[in-house]
Amino acid sequence: MAAIESVLKENRVFEPSEAFQSTANVSGMAAYNALCEKANQDYEGFWGDLAQEMITWKKPFTQVLDESNAPFYKWFADGDLNISYNCLDRHLADKANKTAIIYEKDDGSSENITYQQLYERVCQFANGLKSLGVGKGDRVIIYMPMVPDAVVAMQACARIGAIHSVVFGGFSAGAVKDRVQDAAAKIIITANESVRGGKSAPLKVTVDEALKDGDCPSIEKVIVFARTDKEVAFDAARDIWWHDLIANQASECEPEWMNAEDTLFVLYTSGSTGKPKGVQHSIAGYLLGAMLSLKWVFDHKPDDVFWCTADVGWITGHTYIAYGPLAWGATQIVFEGVPTYPNAGRFWEGVEKHKVTTFYTAPTAIRSLIKLGADLPNQYDLSSLRLLGSVGEPINPEAWMWYYETVGRSECPIVDTWWQTETGSNMIAPLPGAVAIKPGSCTLPLPGIMVDIVDESGASVDQSNGGFLVIKRPFPSLLRTVWGDDERFKSTYFPEELGGNLYLAGDSAHRDENGYVWIMGRIDDVLNVSGHRLGTMEIESALVANPLVAEAAVVGKPHDVKGEAVVAFVILKGDRPEGEDAKRIAQELKSWVAHEIGKIAQPDDIRFGDNLPKTRSGKIMRRLLRTLAKGEEITADTSTLENPQVLEQLKQSV
Ligand code: PRX
Repeated sequence: MAAIESVLKENRVFEPSEAFQSTANVSGMAAYNALCEKANQDYEGFWGDLAQEMITWKKPFTQVLDESNAPFYKWFADGDLNISYNCLDRHLADKANKTAIIYEKDDGSSENITYQQLYERVCQFANGLKSLGVGKGDRVIIYMPMVPDAVVAMQACARIGAIHSVVFGGFSAGAVKDRVQDAAAKIIITANESVRGGKSAPLKVTVDEALKDGDCPSIEKVIVFARTDKEVAFDAARDIWWHDLIANQASECEPEWMNAEDTLFVLYTSGSTGKPKGVQHSIAGYLLGAMLSLKWVFDHKPDDVFWCTADVGWITGHTYIAYGPLAWGATQIVFEGVPTYPNAGRFWEGVEKHKVTTFYTAPTAIRSLIKLGADLPNQYDLSSLRLLGSVGEPINPEAWMWYYETVGRSECPIVDTWWQTETGSNMIAPLPGAVAIKPGSCTLPLPGIMVDIVDESGASVDQSNGGFLVIKRPFPSLLRTVWGDDERFKSTYFPEELGGNLYLAGDSAHRDENGYVWIMGRIDDVLNVSGHRLGTMEIESALVANPLVAEAAVVGKPHDVKGEAVVAFVILKGDRPEGEDAKRIAQELKSWVAHEIGKIAQPDDIRFGDNLPKTRSGKIMRRLLRTLAKGEEITADTSTLENPQVLEQLKQSV
């Protein structure tokens, strides 16, 4: 892959500036090394001290790590706390009037919410949930636009011990239904509609479709937030407006004191099978990871204005919007819109307007903004910025350099943060006052995160070789299991082939001569499209569910802006279509996938053949499909192919 080659040749290095280093939370390599050393010497003492220092406990823990039922690790297991208390109540003494959330609306207007106000909104809504009989351990689906109320809903669940499962607002009715069913959720919180980029999306209609025909019997109530004055169909027995629910609720709500290991949330993500898995996180370990990474990686300071552009439907929005910044009592932006509306200066205008200090976004957004206006940032005053972050996919050095020079004036360190839904918080990322940065590398692990790169047998590879990225010791913010599927948790993340005790991340990586980690890509059938994680099997299942389709295989191909694009090779039940017919059916299948999963999964390129390239034993040769998708000549040996003639057909995009 071209991107990987350019990454391999990268040799620019940027040391932390003296100015940045002088105020940094972790200043200089000696300080970074000392933290790593402490973790090496006394792993439990290291984590135990941090958990005591950062978290406010109702009942302190006495045991740090319990490995007796590995890989089902427990952290701080006899401690009690409430994460909402940690994010709200504990700030009221000195930060009640500090802005917690700057709600930057789609239309460009904004609204500030103080810690006191946020606390009251969370308490009221928590009381509302309680009035519907929601309590500890109940599952609540949140299918909301990017409004502060989505954060309120998450915090309110956490306050009463309910388990939230946020479903990204761009997902389809089918995706909502699958998640409701898997989690056996009792409540859905949604909105009449969302507003993004000047367009609205009918969230409530989608929920109605997900729940139709009695498909989701576990659902008792649907709470509907009125984002606009748009009227929607109401089922009087089931649906209730958010504002009616909270109308008479008290603005105080005693938090439910939870065990450290109780489940905070389940967030579904794609893996190598057709069915998304519910990544299950517990409370205390997750909170610690969120807080620690804000302090170390984002160098968080009390006066910062933090802006993470993610949606709360993804893990980044959970950790770096709904929980982490609030746990620190930070001021942050909740952005409802899209980077390109009303124009490609939207982010930069937001930075100028709110004097943002810390800006965290995805490479795909950066690449699209470069395309739409490489010099646009120069038209804004971005001098408030002091730190930039990147997440979700490898950032190509060209995009990195633009981000660094044009957005960051060559003064702001870039923290390229490698992590996953499963790890809960940043794992490999520079501590910006200590670690020198290189464009395209996520650099070094956080202290206490024991990263290694291994071969198929679980043995460490030599420095110059690539291999599987693993984490050798359990850490607090690691997922606890896959919701309802302990076996899948074990076999996916702690496979026996590697000895059963290494956390297998699912990425390949290599290290350079300084020990810096360079992520090369996924080792499984997971695609990364615009920073969104999509399983090829998921898209294949959606395609074959269409009555026209007999068989489908999906692969990725490199894409300038999205990182990867989805290519689907499709075999119809009838004859292979040609000309206008092929175009029409391809369009129909794209819309079908958008409807089955969501627009983000829609194939960019569909190709029809009489068959897929298979070996004589019937195995699909995906390697060949990847070559075809890229439009490259096939140089591999095709003599084991049952049907080499289909390769010509599958070269053609519709
Ligand atoms: O392949 C890695 C890529 O995104 C995957 C995790 O996706 P998800 O669970 O959706 O979480 C994304 C946000 C944390 C990883 O397995 N990835 C994430 N961050 C980076 C990355 N690849 C390269 N560099 C990164 N900084």
